[in-house]
Amino acid sequence: MARLCVALDTSKEKALQLVDQLKEYPLIYKIGYKLFIPYGVELIKEIQKRVPNSEIFLDLKLHDIPNTVRNGVFEASQLGVSYLTVHAMGGKEMISAAAQVKGNTKLLGVTLLTSHDEEYLKELSITLSKEDFVLKLAQIALSSGADGLVCSAHEVEFLKKELGNFLAVVPGIRPQGKSSDDQKRVATPKEAVDKGADILVVGRPIVQSQAPRKVVEEILTQIGF
Ligand code: C5P
Repeated sequence: MARLCVALDTSKEKALQLVDQLKEYPLIYKIGYKLFIPYGVELIKEIQKRVPNSEIFLDLKLHDIPNTVRNGVFEASQLGVSYLTVHAMGGKEMISAAAQVKGNTKLLGVTLLTSHDEEYLKELSITLSKEDFVLKLAQIALSSGADGLVCSAHEVEFLKKELGNFLAVVPGIRPQGKSSDDQKRVATPKEAVDKGADILVVGRPIVQSQAPRKVVEEILTQIGF
């Protein structure tokens, strides 16, 4: 069954308030630069204290030389985070080094960022299509020991067909299938799950809602909880 992950792209106070409001639901909480850089480990511990057995997704998109990334992944696994992102562009050696020390933390490969398009590939003199480039990076990540990939609802079906099953973490989800912000190609929770998403990442529709519990319930109902 698919899971719901709330992207806590907000202030520390708001994040903790949300965690308190939502603690009865089986959620994953995603922490990125906005919270991790100022509040880091203490915030992770605070969430773990408030919601025992909570699962945390640390979205740091690591990309450096293998030894440096290995050190970072080891430290993250010691914090007890359940998911951690690394850039597939870091290559086989980097991801293999990360996989050796990941412990119970699931490593998620990030392929081509959605902010990049075919123009960017041209600038880099990469002649592959965007789709083939994403597939190549996905193959590198999974064959080097990543547990899953961050991908869009529109890529997940194709990637699972080409690569077999993997943990597919999918952002760009909107409960009503419409976006009023910078997400351009969105999918509803049901569409994403039907295409093969295993974890749905939802930020603003929950974080900015006046009734976050209602939105969470709506999404969980859509995905069959
Ligand atoms: O607010 P929203 O639901 O758009 O948040 C989606 C989350 O997923 C954000 O934390 C964003 O950084 C992340 N993400 C994304 N698209 C990607 C990779 C990550 O929206 N391609």
